[in-house]
Amino acid sequence: MNQVDYLRISLIDRCNFRCQYCMPEGTELDYIVKQQLLTDSELLTLIESVFIPVGFTRFRLTGGEPLLRPGVVELVGAIASLPETQDLSMTTNGFLLAPMAQSLYDAGLRRINISLDSLEPDIFDQIIGNRGRSRWQDVWNGIQAAYHVGFDPLKLNVVVIPGVNDTEVLDLAALTIEKQWHVRFIEFMPIGNGDLFGDRGWIASEQLRLDIRERWGLTESQVRGNGPADVFQIPGAKGTLGFISQMSECFCDRCNRMRLSADGWLRPCLLNESGQIDLKTALRTGITTRELREQVRELLAIKPEINFKGRDTGTEGIYTRTMSQIGG
Ligand code: GTP
Ligand code: 5AD
Ligand code: SF4
Repeated sequence: MNQVDYLRISLIDRCNFRCQYCMPEGTELDYIVKQQLLTDSELLTLIESVFIPVGFTRFRLTGGEPLLRPGVVELVGAIASLPETQDLSMTTNGFLLAPMAQSLYDAGLRRINISLDSLEPDIFDQIIGNRGRSRWQDVWNGIQAAYHVGFDPLKLNVVVIPGVNDTEVLDLAALTIEKQWHVRFIEFMPIGNGDLFGDRGWIASEQLRLDIRERWGLTESQVRGNGPADVFQIPGAKGTLGFISQMSECFCDRCNRMRLSADGWLRPCLLNESGQIDLKTALRTGITTRELREQVRELLAIKPEINFKGRDTGTEGIYTRTMSQIGG
């Protein structure tokens, strides 16, 4: 059985983008009200007194957009300074990153994943649902800032959307040749975006690999990530190419993670709502952290049965929350 030691913590469900694959236009979102968000102190109590004692040592901060959370730098500092924290990372859309990159690094964050779905500002703005001044350059500045500050690895996430950005796969892959950046192509998932997905479907990673192989050649990389990506490399490139293929290949049997939502629900599987525990209400009603550790241990024990395994079993995922609410 896989060791489950990686917790993805959503700091906030709000986002300053409206990516069409994540929260398509027309989606009515009930944002979590402030009183229902885990406070910094509750979150740190859960990490120190519940998650670390049951074996979690790696933490990823997500959103919505995690940089929108007030006090995020201090929170990073507090989690990074726990002696048991072996790895602390963040997934961000990069829009607010440029001015914050140095302080996040100084607070102890060392690795970061940034979404970059297009190199074309117009297409980028279309994907993120932006109708105002283009936001592409801000994100690009954020990526450059993270690179110069020294985040390593620096990963760029691309959700490949047929008919929107699939023609840019080679250009995005080429970013890894000169710089030690890690570009990951993610198969488009139908989570809360049925209308958009229904028309388009998704493109299998294997197809992208064929195109890249034809252009430059492609070798399997020695680097193994922490997560679901299969890692490859263009021969001689400084960076790597990752493929996250949850649609074409079920990787649930190597799942090493659970998710904590911004309102304190612990969710054992991205694609299945079964088994969730409301840790915030438990804490607020005085349930001891000892009791909570037991509950989380029990959930860990049954996680393999909850893991989605959908394409093996022919079942659909269960999600009433969007990706922005679950934390990606
Ligand atoms: P690393 O630790 O850097 O490897 O992170 P990661 O790839 O787990 O994190 P990131 O936040 O960049 O996630 C990238 C994408 O991987 C997500 O958008 C999802 O599409 C996919 N993904 C991550 N975790 C899971 C999971 O548990 N199940 C499924 N099906 N997809 C996941
Ligand atoms: N399919 C695949 N990836 C998605 N993400 C958000 N929605 C989807 C989806 N429907 C990704 C974002 C980001 C990560 C947190 O989740 O691109 O990289
Ligand atoms: Fe925001 Fe990320 Fe969702 Fe885009 S994918 S809307 S950046 S939470």
